[in-house]
Amino acid sequence: PQNTEALRETIKGLLKKYNAKLVAHYYTSPEIQSLAEETGGCVSDSLEMARFGSQCEGSTLIVAGVKFMGETAKILSPEKRVLMPTLEATCSLDIGCPIDEFSAFCDEHSDRTVVVYANTSAAVKARADWVVTSSIALDVVDYLDKQGKKILWAPDKHLGSYVARKTGADVLLWDGACIVHEEFKAQGILDIKAQYPDAAVLVHPESPESVVELADAVGSTSQLINATKTLPNDTFIVATDQGIFYKMQQACPGKTLVIAPTAGSGATCRSCANCPWMGMNELENLATVFDQPDNEIFVDPELAKKALIPLGRMLDFKK
Ligand code: 13P
Ligand code: SF4
Repeated sequence: PQNTEALRETIKGLLKKYNAKLVAHYYTSPEIQSLAEETGGCVSDSLEMARFGSQCEGSTLIVAGVKFMGETAKILSPEKRVLMPTLEATCSLDIGCPIDEFSAFCDEHSDRTVVVYANTSAAVKARADWVVTSSIALDVVDYLDKQGKKILWAPDKHLGSYVARKTGADVLLWDGACIVHEEFKAQGILDIKAQYPDAAVLVHPESPESVVELADAVGSTSQLINATKTLPNDTFIVATDQGIFYKMQQACPGKTLVIAPTAGSGATCRSCANCPWMGMNELENLATVFDQPDNEIFVDPELAKKALIPLGRMLDFKK
């Protein structure tokens, strides 16, 4: 097997040869994030991944993340070839929101504006009025609330209830959760706060309410990275996937980052806070991505046309 450096060189050569750009999420490994940076690609949260994919030059996009990110890229850039290191990289939120049940739920509540999180299939997006990511969920729901709209929110119940609490909007929740963020526990954060009393607590809003309540900053991955630049603390307790440490440490060099425990009282869980699907993106499968015809993303054109409407609203909402 090739060593890491040789694999990185192989991938760089392939990106050039195929006029391809690598788009990576903050939860992928440091090797993949640094490759995206070094080759003129993008490392970002899910909103900026979508935006970059639709605006960048290049005929091919390699999306290192999870499947909904590849589908979103394809919907926004149907003319581009979109490849992923593995199509098995899914998301518990996407799995937990099958289109038939979701569609029936929407039919039962047809008086509500349907807002879905980006972590959903193309079919679910096609059924929605709005798609949002965690960076703009609050702003979009606040905007809709001010127009007197009642919301049907899916799939993440924790993010949905956070948005409802913050905006005061009338939000009906689908019962879905992220298996990574749901594991953060309030008691674990309190225990680690006792060890680092001056630390600020940074929480992704896919975490349970009791964890969000302890936060000094709540936000999307990019908003949490920004919080490390603006908060004066020297230590941050971070309740999101550990992959974020690569970029977060660049944003606050010299400061200390501590992962929030995912087990109950007292215990820390160093192997947790790692999305198993994000972890399926590896240098090995990235290096063979052009040889694997079954790693290309295709979205049914009719579905894509429908999903583009709420996705376009999201991109136009905050330019
Ligand atoms: P962000 O939009 O904050 O990057 O979140 C994506 C995600 O999957 C979080 O678990
Ligand atoms: Fe989905 Fe959670 Fe993984 Fe994000 S961290 S991709 S929400 S399972």
